[in-house]
Amino acid sequence: MDMATDATHRSTDDLMGVDKALQIPLYAKRDIVLVRGEGAYLYDNDGNRYLDAMSNYGVAVLGHAHPRFTQALVDQAHRLTTTHQSFGSDARSEFLETVMTIAPEGVRKAFLSNSGTEAIEAALKFARAATGREKVVAARRGYHGRTFGALSATADRKYRDPFMPLPIPAEHIPFNDADALEAAIDDQTAAVILEPLQGEGGIHLADAAFLQRAREVTSARGALLIADEVQSAIRTGVPFVMVDAGVTPDIIATAKAVANGFPIGVTLVTEAISDAMPGGAHGSTFGGNPLACRVGTETLRILADDGLYENARIRGEAIIAGIEALESPKVRAVRGSGMMIGIELKSRATPTLKALQERGVLALMAGNLVIRLLPPVIYGQEQVDELVAALGDVLAS
Ligand SMILES: Cc1ncc(COP(=O)(O)O)c(C=O)c1O
Repeated sequence: MDMATDATHRSTDDLMGVDKALQIPLYAKRDIVLVRGEGAYLYDNDGNRYLDAMSNYGVAVLGHAHPRFTQALVDQAHRLTTTHQSFGSDARSEFLETVMTIAPEGVRKAFLSNSGTEAIEAALKFARAATGREKVVAARRGYHGRTFGALSATADRKYRDPFMPLPIPAEHIPFNDADALEAAIDDQTAAVILEPLQGEGGIHLADAAFLQRAREVTSARGALLIADEVQSAIRTGVPFVMVDAGVTPDIIATAKAVANGFPIGVTLVTEAISDAMPGGAHGSTFGGNPLACRVGTETLRILADDGLYENARIRGEAIIAGIEALESPKVRAVRGSGMMIGIELKSRATPTLKALQERGVLALMAGNLVIRLLPPVIYGQEQVDELVAALGDVLAS
């Protein structure tokens, strides 16, 4: 069998038709069926190859079918795939130890779950329980997930409006406006929640001064500071962007890249917050399962062993420099950090995204105007050149 075709030999139209017939139509479909991946490349049902510049929404940082990752997954699958957190687990203990090698001093108690929104949900519940307060301050353009609690913090009305009223009172201040942030925090504020590098909202980096004010004011007023590093962790070339900016939050929520795309959520908290949580106040049946933990450990080890944090920084800078050198009249701005890059266009990004896909490159949008690049951090110069060349083609015409 041709490795680039799907195991069932069914056509693209047939398989997409099943999705359309049987799924709630929540996703804008891109009409290709992905069946295989290898390194930085994906293959569709018809054998076409694509350069992966999106890592499946930022998760597959090591690319696809990484030999060490795959081996770890298979080994663990042969041993034990599920263990409730009321039992000990070698895989879980090892993962906790490995995660703490990237956690900042003082934020080294973990809750394990299965997704970004669950990591945020836990963060918000912990903030409520630890402070006894309800209100959350978040940023405009901020995205924190779509379960009810996380959605309360998410800014976009398109996601919020169908589900009002939302359970957590939230105020959304302009991103990077420290005065507005300070004015919004009062004695009812449980937490300020911020993406230090906004993803969905268009790739906007927080100013260090803004984050520092957030830290100072929350500490002074008895509120907590939550870093949403679900998308920004690891791929930016540092474990956590907020910590790299010199600010240690009380809670860090992360997911996506941590287990290279295997579902996992991690909420890290201070000792004081951990101590404030009554037993049984939160939990997850699947959270901390041995499969996710084992591949999470392996992912974090590969990143360190292979110098991939540094590679993310180097390749990310090269991509940005390459796009800037195109001097495309269609581009308003290029920004980002490591392998989390936004190209803001002067007009809607959808046609460019489609042209990229036709040209064999898979990327994402962030809002209407921004092409979002979330490539695997394993890119070499060859992939950088390929990506920039494709962007050159679609941004020139
Ligand atoms: C910053 C941020 N927070 C939370 C989430 C929600 O994560 P998930 O889709 O895994 O629930 C996302 C997902 O895109 C995200 O980018």
